[in-house]
Amino acid sequence: MNIILLGPPGAGKGTQAQRLVERHGMRQLSTGDMLRAAVKAGTPTGLEAKAVMERGELVSDEIVSALIGDELDAMGPSVGAIFDGYPRTAAQAESLDAILAGRGRKLDHVVELEVNEDALVERITGRFTCATCGKGYHDKFEQPKVPGVCDKCGGTEFKRRPDDNAETVRTRMAEYRAKTAPILPIYEARGIVAKVDGMAEMDDVTAAIEAALKS
Ligand code: AP5
Repeated sequence: MNIILLGPPGAGKGTQAQRLVERHGMRQLSTGDMLRAAVKAGTPTGLEAKAVMERGELVSDEIVSALIGDELDAMGPSVGAIFDGYPRTAAQAESLDAILAGRGRKLDHVVELEVNEDALVERITGRFTCATCGKGYHDKFEQPKVPGVCDKCGGTEFKRRPDDNAETVRTRMAEYRAKTAPILPIYEARGIVAKVDGMAEMDDVTAAIEAALKS
């Protein structure tokens, strides 16, 4: 199964993608994570993307579509893909169709996480991850069971993203409204969109996504 998780910054795409990975052995393909890895490694892609990401704007369609194609090539053909943060523009949606078709895959579901934008700034500015395994946490909504110790790997170092500040979040939201929300009708016309209440409790969001994937 190949699915897209669609929603604005902080909607819960990454949180729910991690849960699908754990439950179904699918692979999370997060262009945001791939770009952050490229920035950290200082690759040419990373050097080009760094300032764009810090401003909260979108990196070029060519770069992110190439990253997605490479990741799919590195996966076994029977492993399902969860597209998290991709596609984000009409050009990327078109590229994804070609990328999937070229690899004998097809898109099965698009899950739109519907959220109240006013609540997202709090979600994003309170977010942090384990520096060792990447598990996500939140100051208010999802703290480690033992303070300062990662539930998943026992790591004791945590990090926050440089673009998770209120000003950049506003630009990221505007980019979503202008460039990403308009691609939804492409998938609605195919009858593969499920709308899920992203403001519900995390476990309820997971249950609603699971139900949508069975339909
Ligand atoms: P990216 O990394 O994709 O960031 P984003 O889309 O802004 O999404 P986030 O990761 O911020 O949010 P999320 O929906 O995953 O929320 P999360 O689950 O963490 O992109 C970053 C940048 O890279 C972009 O700005 C752009 O520059 C570039 N980029 C990436 N992809 C690109 C592309 N395709 N094209 C061009 N440029 C691209 O949840 C947030 C917090 O809320 C967490 O702490 C979580 O614990 C909490 N939370 C989650 N669900 C709930 C809930 N139901 N109730 C309460 N709290 C919750």
